[in-house]
This record gives sequence, structure tokens and C-alpha cells, in this order.
Amino acid sequence: MKRTTYAGKVNEKFLDQKVVLDGWVAKKRNLGSLIFIDLRDREGIVQLVFNEKDSETAFKVAEAVKNEYVIEVSGQVVARQENEINPDLFTGKVEVHVTDAEILSKSKPVPFDIKDNTNASDDLRLKYRYLDLRRAEMQRGLQIRNRISQATHSYLDENGFLDIETPELTVSTPEGARDYLVPSRVYPGSFYALPQSPQQFKQMLMGAGFDRYYQIARCFRDEDLRGDRQPEFTQIDLEASFMSAEDIQEMTEGLIKRVMKETIDYDVKLPFERITWQESMDRFGTDQPDTRFKMELKDLSEIVKDSEFKVFTSAVEAGGQVKAIAVPGGASEYSRKEIDKYTEYVERFGAKGLAWMKVTDDGFSGPVAKFFKDEAKINEIKTKMEANSGDLILFAADRAKVVADTLGYLRVAIATEQNMIPTDKFNFLWVVDWPLFEYDEGSKRWTAAHHPFTMPNVGDEHFLNEGENPHEAHAQSYDIILNGLELGGGSIRIHTRELQEKMFRALGFTKESAESQFGYFLRALDFGFPPHGGLAIGLDRFARLIAGRNNIRDVIAFPKNSKAVEPLTSAPAAVSDKQLADLEISVNQKTEE
Ligand code: AMO
Ligand code: AMP
Repeated sequence: MKRTTYAGKVNEKFLDQKVVLDGWVAKKRNLGSLIFIDLRDREGIVQLVFNEKDSETAFKVAEAVKNEYVIEVSGQVVARQENEINPDLFTGKVEVHVTDAEILSKSKPVPFDIKDNTNASDDLRLKYRYLDLRRAEMQRGLQIRNRISQATHSYLDENGFLDIETPELTVSTPEGARDYLVPSRVYPGSFYALPQSPQQFKQMLMGAGFDRYYQIARCFRDEDLRGDRQPEFTQIDLEASFMSAEDIQEMTEGLIKRVMKETIDYDVKLPFERITWQESMDRFGTDQPDTRFKMELKDLSEIVKDSEFKVFTSAVEAGGQVKAIAVPGGASEYSRKEIDKYTEYVERFGAKGLAWMKVTDDGFSGPVAKFFKDEAKINEIKTKMEANSGDLILFAADRAKVVADTLGYLRVAIATEQNMIPTDKFNFLWVVDWPLFEYDEGSKRWTAAHHPFTMPNVGDEHFLNEGENPHEAHAQSYDIILNGLELGGGSIRIHTRELQEKMFRALGFTKESAESQFGYFLRALDFGFPPHGGLAIGLDRFARLIAGRNNIRDVIAFPKNSKAVEPLTSAPAAVSDKQLADLEISVNQKTEE
């Protein structure tokens, strides 16, 4: 026997044909003289019917098989009876009446059921990843991922981009995370770093004259893991010479349009909306705004600064802001207790409280309402908030960063809870005109908002001169946001040594430290380096969002868990003393307290 088609592909087009199928037993129902088996392969499932009268030997096989046995069958495709049609299944109008069957491989009982919406724990799923991946939703995720890669290759090839590989054993690449290091055996005490991105290499390929580069590149970053972060992940990475920021954005839009069409047949409208970083912060409190719903932040500082409510007036006096969001219909939806729950939630952003008022027909209600009795003021606030009777207004009064975080996260949390976010929408959006630097609260220092190779805005270069404040400079950088998540980012790059050296200085490098870490790169800029720029899209995030999954793990075949462990192989693992000795490495074992 030789397979003629996939089980999941057998539909009414195959009626009356003989098919040979290979697959896994997903489900078996034994009715005595009839046995039904759902046969699963990567394309789906089809119902097999074994009837003792059709074939005694095949029937015996069916009696013997258990879930997850691998079998090969041949049989006739027959229409199901009207009342047995399953409209949810591609193969739901037919079944295969089996005449021959063979067991190709047996299976022990599996540690969890192979079905969608599994409640198996994450680590169990990862430990038996090959079983987890048999589930239809996982197959779909990786098939979508494959379509993204294929569409990317063909689109970028058509547009003259060359697929060029860059090293994975390299030196540190500054994308802001910790490096994964690989010890050198030949040079004991020296280490390669795995690339956080191909950034400098792709720039040097521009210096080399390749003009348009791309790569579906593996990147490595040792950072705190979250649902949309993995220690190793994949970028659709591109770079081009002689292109403006707008040219690169347009090229990217074309790529995204192609990908959305070829993965889920979704038509995106071009061009994408563009908003400045400042506008994004003002309206959404974040640089990754979800624009699928409104509930935008409104600045009430001017309106409330002379009120009797000290919380508001003192925030404004201290140079801060009072901003608010209006939750439509929130007055009846939220009790005082529930608002208290949110007050607790926003503490993590540094908020000292969460003032609120409910909008009534003739004003406001709630403990703060007593400060806002004046009808003109009431109307001013209502108009600014675009609020109606029955809405709940939530206020944050603090310095800008705290206000933005508080209301930005609250906006998404409430919208999620209230089912305000349409799940069938894909809102792509460019956030442009970023600051060149950002203050990192963790390390208490200024860092490059994108990376140190980003070109300042035209006219902002002088901010990098000695004696000026570099933190006022804005950058020729752009992020692409999809449904409130940073999908990708890029920039026009610095292409002269002079400016690149100034950038390093602004980041706190001395001439010597810049030379020792980036000398090779600065030197490259000495030899006719073309103006250039590029961008990278997180492939895992893109696949996750298209597949409608909650975690990028679900679109990566063998991901790490939230503790950076790969439970299937148990990586990372100890190595032999011999291997350590070869590398001249000794490990300080932490003694148990
Ligand atoms: P950036 O650091 O913004 O830019 O990364 C680009 C995109 O990669 C994805 N990404 C991740 N995905 C999963 N896990 C991670 N740990 C992770 N980190 C980043 C995100 C992000 O938008 N060299 C520049 C690009 C350029 O300037 O051309 C860069 O790496 O989707
Ligand atoms: P208080 O005057 O501290 O009793 O607070 C009155 C209301 O204002 C309470 O609902 C607090 O949660 C809220 N509140 C206190 N500080 C802030 C702040 N910085 N921003 C917004 N609301 C606040």
C-alpha cells in the first residue's frame, strides 16, 4: 500500500474513490459489529468505519488498536448519512469504509489527551512536545509560521533582497539584553557571544555593497521571559541602502500585506496609520498602543488644576499631570470594591491611588464628586472625556510616566475584562519619531531607545555635540505595532564615524571603550559607507498573533519554558569534567545553605 492522500483532506471530492491513508488513532468507538476510528494526520481527521462484513482482518486490526497507534488503512470513501454529517469538519460529509488495515507502530497510553484546549500543564506539554505538537491547534500554528517564512522569502526575493547568513558565534551585539556566551576551547578564557540580532553584520553588508539584505535570523537574548519573549527567537531581518524611512516602511507594509494574505487570506488596507511616539504616549499611555478600541487617555490637568481636590492640584503643581479614561457604561458595571481591586493593581506602576467618579444625569457621584459641583466644570470634564451618563471616569494624578503606565495598562485590562476588544481585527500601526534615548529606571541611566546605531532626526544631530543635551534628540526610528504588541522595529542608521562616535559618547562610552568594543565597526565606516536603514519583525510574535495564540511558545516547535529551561531535553545541563577541562573552565558550585 502507498498513501494516496492526507486523512484531513478526504472530503466529498473523493466520493467513491479508494484511498490509502496513514495516521494516528485519535479516537475509537467500538459498537460491537462496527468500529469507528478517527484517523489523524497533520491535515486533520477523517472517520474510518470498520465493519466485520467488509473485512474480517481489517476489523481485527481495529479491535487491537488503541489511541495513538500509527496505522495504515485503505478503503472506499462513502457519503455519511444525512444525520451523521459534521459541518464543523472538513471531512465531515464523508467516511472511509476500510477494507485493509495494518498497525505500523504501537503507543503506550499518552500522558495527556491529544486535543485542543488541553488542560495539561505547560511543562508536561513541553516534556512530551512531540505529543503536544500532534494537537490540531499546534499543527496549525506551525503551518502558519511556515507560510509566513515562505511568503517572506518570495516577497523579499521579488524585491531584490539577498538572503545572506551572518555568524552565530560572534561578539556582543548591543540590543539591550544580556548575552549568551560560548567559551572558546582554542582561546581559553575567551568567549563568543551569540547574536542578540544581526545588527552590525547587516550594516556591514550594506558597507559591502549588497544594497538589499534579508535573513530569517535566529537571535539570542538572556532577559526576563514573558508570554511574548523567548531566549532564542526569530526575526525577519532586513536592511537596505539608499532608502528613506518611508521607503522601508512601505516595503514592510507590502511584506505584511503579502503575509496576511498567504497565511489566513486576510486583506490589510495600506498604508498603515502612523502616529508619533508622543501622540501614542499621550493618547494611549504606551508606545505599543492597541487601537482596536477607544477609551483613550485625556489630559484634564488644565481643567482640574484650580479645583478643591488636593490630589489633583498638588500633582499639577509638582509638574505632573491629571489624566483619565472613561469606561463606557462603567458606572453600573463597577462596584466600589471592584474599583479598589484596580487601585491595588495600579500600585505596581507607582500610582498612589485611583480617583474615580461616576457620571450621572446631573453631574458626578462618588467620594471625589463633592469637589466637582460647578456645572460648567462638570460639563468641561464630560466634554473632554466624551463621557455620558452611566460612564465611569478613572483618574491618575502623578508624574507623566506614572500616569501613562497606570492608565495605559488599566485601559487594556478593563477593555479585556469588558470584552471591548474585537478579536477578529488586525490593527497595524507605525509609531514614528521616537526619542533617541530613553531613561532606564532599572539601571538608572540613559540608554539608546532603539539601539546605538540609530540616526537622529534631520536637524537633531547637533544635540549629540559636546555641551548639548542629547536626550532632547529624536530619532529616525519606527516601530510596527499589531494589536497592542510591538511586532517589529527599525531605523535609519548612522553611516559616518563622526556621528557614531558622538553617539557612543552620549551613551557614556569613552573613546577607548568605544574603540575596544566597536572598533571594527567604526573602522568600517571609514571606507565609503552608504546611507542605509532597516528593520526586524519578530517572526514568533507575528505567527502568534496570526494564529490567535496567547504565547509565542505555541508557535515555536521546541521552546523554552518561563524559566528558560527546555523540558524535553532538560537543557541547560551540566557538562562533563572533561569538557570543562578542555575549556579550562572551573565551576563554583553553590553550596546548599
Ligand atoms: P528589536 O530589538 O526591536 O530590534 O527586535 C525586533 C523584534 O524582535 C522581536 N523580539 C523578540 N521576540 C521574541 N522574544 C524576544 N526575546 C524578543 N526580542 C525582540 C520583537 C521586536 O520587535 N536589530 C534591531 C532591528 C533593526 O533595527 O533593524 C532589533 O533587533 O518583535
Ligand atoms: P485620599 O485623598 O488619599 O483619600 O484619596 C482620595 C481618592 O483619590 C482615592 O480614591 C484615592 O485612590 C485617589 N488618589 C489618591 N492619590 C491619587 C493619585 N495620585 N492619582 C489618582 N488618584 C489618587
